[in-house]
Amino acid sequence: MIGRSGVDRPVGLEVDHVGVAVHDLDEGSAPWRLLGLPVADDETVAEQGVRVRMLRAGDTEIELLAPLDASSPIARFLSRRGPGVHHVAFRVEDVEAELARLLREGARAVDLTPRPGRAGSRVAFLHPSWAGGVLVELVQPADPERSS
Ligand code: CO
Repeated sequence: MIGRSGVDRPVGLEVDHVGVAVHDLDEGSAPWRLLGLPVADDETVAEQGVRVRMLRAGDTEIELLAPLDASSPIARFLSRRGPGVHHVAFRVEDVEAELARLLREGARAVDLTPRPGRAGSRVAFLHPSWAGGVLVELVQPADPERSS
């Protein structure tokens, strides 16, 4: 397959989205809107303690994450490091199998089993200490054949 750069090499996993921690979704989305990224509806992901707003950028998205309350992992991130890039998410077909494979290969994970993500997806986070300080998310999108 020929990549966008025109170089003939494997394409690898696709970046599903880049997660960005913000204090407030409206304030946090202003620069991205100015860049011209279309905004989707907000969604609450209670399991992760966040309110989420997606902004589409071609084949990928910016995922703005605002804390629901002070106990949210995003609230802790904001108090330690301030607003900014929080994680990079890759799309996988089978999050359970991919997580198990990575753990067998010695990866460190935040989640030992997948958990519910936004829009019916299933996700698992790998530990930032494993990927050079980057929090990596694996996302298995909702099965479009099984709309729940
Ligand atoms: Co994410």
